[in-house]
Amino acid sequence: MNSLNPEQFRELVYYATLAPSSHNTQCWKFRNEDQVIIILPDRSRRCPVVDPDDHHLYVSLGCAAENLIQAALAQGLSAQCRFDPAGDGAVRIQLQPAEKRVTPLFEAIPHRQCTRAEYDGYPLTPDELHQLEMAGTGDGVRVLMLTSPTAIETVLGYVVQGNTAQFNNPAFMQELQSWIRFNDQEATRTGDGLSGRATGNPPIPRWLGTLLSKVLFRAKPENEKIARYVRSSAGIAVFVSAVDDQAHWIEAGRCYERFALQATALGIRNAFINQPVEEASLRLAFARALGLSSGRPDLVVRFGRGAEMPRSLRRSLDAVMI
Ligand SMILES: Cc1cc2nc3c(=O)[nH]c(=O)nc-3n(C[C@H](O)[C@H](O)[C@H](O)COP(=O)(O)O)c2cc1C
Repeated sequence: MNSLNPEQFRELVYYATLAPSSHNTQCWKFRNEDQVIIILPDRSRRCPVVDPDDHHLYVSLGCAAENLIQAALAQGLSAQCRFDPAGDGAVRIQLQPAEKRVTPLFEAIPHRQCTRAEYDGYPLTPDELHQLEMAGTGDGVRVLMLTSPTAIETVLGYVVQGNTAQFNNPAFMQELQSWIRFNDQEATRTGDGLSGRATGNPPIPRWLGTLLSKVLFRAKPENEKIARYVRSSAGIAVFVSAVDDQAHWIEAGRCYERFALQATALGIRNAFINQPVEEASLRLAFARALGLSSGRPDLVVRFGRGAEMPRSLRRSLDAVMI
């Protein structure tokens, strides 16, 4: 096969960058080497407080890899994803000519979003739950689909505990605030981070946001909002890696992304509630409460039907192509 032409490469990177990333850091760089696209971690965008072991960073690379793989299929290229644990931390996507396939997952890429809002409270059908579970299962990664009110309340208890711990941790709040884009001008200038428009908060100048941070970021009202959001959801998905290493975190990202794209294709929304897996002191108790005897719970995601929210932004493609 000839090497990818620059337009093809650019288009694949475009779809890859529509993937979710922790705090919308977009912690990735892309390089084209003949038939291989290399996705490198951008460590200048690490979040050492919320993500000290780079778990979320590698999950984010996995999400980007899955989008790229779906987009390659639509260009008539099949892709194989490789990761060398002893290497440079890059994900390598080897491309081969194949039959062109425009999958529903590919078509969902521009419409996927993390929808931080109340959902309609209705359950999903068994067939919808099955489709989500299939999409979210991979090599050494499984997804627990929790839909009973008891299981949902159990998870909510851990989310509230984790959220309270995070809000009471000044280092966590400082890191979070550095990724908050308090108004549209900030969000457009940086093209990254957590914009008010996507999180449902009104725009304010940064100086005011910083001045009022003690009022704006309080655990109790945030916990009440989370409880309302979780109880409005049809269920909670917990992604679990069989082995706690970078290769499995990348695979967990790919599984989550397929789940999110499949959900989008079915008109189902989702949003992360990762506090129980981010707070290392809670993770083991959370795993036990779910009945897990081994493996790492990677991601906690609520799902259901609801209205779309404004989209979060991305940086220019030139900023991430090397
Ligand atoms: C590994 C990972 C962890 C995340 N954790 C959270 C979280 O705990 N809470 C949350 O609201 N969003 C979380 N997000 C969602 C990102 O903030 C979101 O993907 C980003 O802001 C871009 O928005 P979009 O997904 O709507 O395009 C996470 C995303 C990833 C990939």
